[in-house]
Amino acid sequence: MAEIIVITSGKGGVGKTTTSAAFGTALAMRGHKTVLIDFDVGLRNLDLIMGCERRVIYDLVNVINGEANLNQALIKDKRVEQLYILPASQTRDKDALTKEGVEKVLNELSQSFDYIVCDSPAGIERGAYLAMYFADQAIVVTNPEVSSVRDSDRMLGVLSSKSKRAEEGKSPIKEHLLLTRYAPDRVTKGEMLSVADVQEILSIPLLGVIPESKAVLKASNAGVPVSLDQESDAGQAYLDAVSRFLGQDLPHRFITEEKANLFRRIFSRGRVTG
Ligand SMILES: Nc1ncnc2c1ncn2[C@@H]1O[C@H](COP(=O)(O)OP(=O)(O)OP(=O)(O)O)[C@@H](O)[C@H]1O
Ligand SMILES: [Mg+2]
Repeated sequence: MAEIIVITSGKGGVGKTTTSAAFGTALAMRGHKTVLIDFDVGLRNLDLIMGCERRVIYDLVNVINGEANLNQALIKDKRVEQLYILPASQTRDKDALTKEGVEKVLNELSQSFDYIVCDSPAGIERGAYLAMYFADQAIVVTNPEVSSVRDSDRMLGVLSSKSKRAEEGKSPIKEHLLLTRYAPDRVTKGEMLSVADVQEILSIPLLGVIPESKAVLKASNAGVPVSLDQESDAGQAYLDAVSRFLGQDLPHRFITEEKANLFRRIFSRGRVTG
């Protein structure tokens, strides 16, 4: 049986799709058979970020409608073993996703995958609702600003009252906070909320802090999930988050100012060569 993970936020444009790609890829890199599902019907972003947009023939809605089987729709990643993508449909019909249809697809994927990562669209409409409804775990992607934190808080309410687990009185969805686009210098200047501020408001366990990074745009333009760029700060931060998700106890990085980091780098280089 697969573990179903929803990547959610409430607010748009905070980094859900970036996270779905980076996190899912890192799970597969650790040897877990993983499928990424794009629930953003009409937009199709995940396949672009994964660099497989030209290979899309069938999508989630085709499978739900019985126009293709899963085998025909799943795209196998060419870089990472054990990684597959189920793209979103470009249909404008937002009702194309049905609860029964999504459940059938998830049940079938559950037979052969370890992790199913659901990339949620923004908001709390149908696509977002169905992306979270069947989840066992939720990664709540939040930017260090008031509007994002408020929408994440609202999403936590939805997870705990409207999910299948909630409806059936089962143990609740396991929630993780992923703080993204974090810029420590702007926190110091008082322009952004700090890690502690966000944690205090949302009070769910912190899975990771992903720094604001040029590597993210560069990776997405190249169709490469940023966790494959292991030289980059953001890539390393996503790999750390996945290690924590899999049970490792790692200290949080990238939460202090760049100047301090630079200092440490020079210092440690000095020690190695000296
Ligand atoms: N750590 C980061 N550093 C810099 N830019 C980032 C970071 N994370 C995401 N971005 C940028 O933010 C923008 C939105 O990211 P993304 O598409 O992943 O968000 P989303 O939550 O999926 O959006 P939507 O709600 O529209 O689906 C993109 O341009 C992406 O490159
Ligand atoms: Mg998205």
